[in-house]
Amino acid sequence: MVVESVSVLDFRNLATCEVELGPGLNLLWGPNGAGKTNLLEATYLALAGRSCRTRDDREAIAFGCSLARSEAVVESSGRRRNFLCSVTRAEGRRQLVDGQAAGPDSAALRPPLAVFMPDRLALVKGPPAARRSHLDGFCAALWPARAEARRRYSRALAQRNALLGRIRAGSAGPGALEAWDRELASAGVELIADRGRALELLAPAFERSASALDLGPVPALRYRPRSTAAEPAQLAAELAERRDGDVARGYTGWGPHLDDVALEADGRALRRYGSQGQQRAALLALLFAERRALLDDGRPAPLMLLDDVTSELDADHRRLLVEHLADDGGQALITATEPGHLPAPAPRREIALRGGHPLQPTPAATPEARAEREAA
Ligand SMILES: Nc1ncnc2c1ncn2[C@@H]1O[C@H](COP(=O)(O)OP(=O)(O)OP(=O)(O)O)[C@@H](O)[C@H]1O
Ligand SMILES: [Mg+2]
Repeated sequence: MVVESVSVLDFRNLATCEVELGPGLNLLWGPNGAGKTNLLEATYLALAGRSCRTRDDREAIAFGCSLARSEAVVESSGRRRNFLCSVTRAEGRRQLVDGQAAGPDSAALRPPLAVFMPDRLALVKGPPAARRSHLDGFCAALWPARAEARRRYSRALAQRNALLGRIRAGSAGPGALEAWDRELASAGVELIADRGRALELLAPAFERSASALDLGPVPALRYRPRSTAAEPAQLAAELAERRDGDVARGYTGWGPHLDDVALEADGRALRRYGSQGQQRAALLALLFAERRALLDDGRPAPLMLLDDVTSELDADHRRLLVEHLADDGGQALITATEPGHLPAPAPRREIALRGGHPLQPTPAATPEARAEREAA
């Protein structure tokens, strides 16, 4: 699967911007404020149907405009599909695939997306919730059918917590907890098993990537579950043991909704002791490990959207990054303020941006090419 082109209209500072992408490395370069991060965000929006940067998509509508639009053409086995997402102030966002409203299956028609943006460092530096949901997202990409266990768990947890609140307030008796404990435990052990399996797949590839990037002691990636129950009965028993405490608190204090993923170097948490460069390297290594696991499973390589990855790296580490990026193949869109930030020998396509405009329209963006595409 290859994203062949992205066309953007009134998206942040990009008034009209159409770029053609190559199947390997694509370097998007230009001065600060040129619109590089905006173009990555627009690419994500077209394909995923939501922003990777903000919860409020309306933020992305260019000042003074009422609609923003981003469109991407994806080629897969000789077939082209058009992904379009528009955001209006009045109605919010809408995603279309080949002109039809996008459904839950449309994600399978485009490459998975791996995003590195500086604020995603929260995944390494922040609290466990971000790591849990990232891990669950990866499980869903690898085993789409397993996403249901995650949803069942969340529903059961919400119901159990609501009931705990009522018991605490005296408007319900503790007897009703039994049924929710069973439901929570049955979805919970599936979730624990999926997360454990996912981390077993990721850990070796993570260490290989981290050591290829060569930024300090090689970090390790480990699942840190609360409960290690393999059978629903065991998790249900653990929940039953803690019922009194749960009622006193009014929420469930045990189970996989409190799991964490440890990222450690020399046995110390990177979130506390890692340098900025080591934390970045760990996030990149995680994205590379996920790409490896998807490829090993026969899935399409993810489109890597890498914003500002080179800014804190010296020349040697930039070279290692690019070599590693090129190793497994697949498509990447990577931003830099200078073209020299990406070592030259790597085969790549360069797109220069200034003030929200590509400096040279790419061949795909010429009127002739567009007419040819429409005729085809
Ligand atoms: N809704 C919006 N409407 C118009 N312009 C916007 C909007 N949101 C952001 N911008 C502007 O877009 C410009 C480009 O932002 P962007 O983050 O893409 O730059 P960049 O090329 O990534 O720069 P840097 O190298 O500093 O990261 C900024 O000057 C910002 O003010
Ligand atoms: Mg930027």
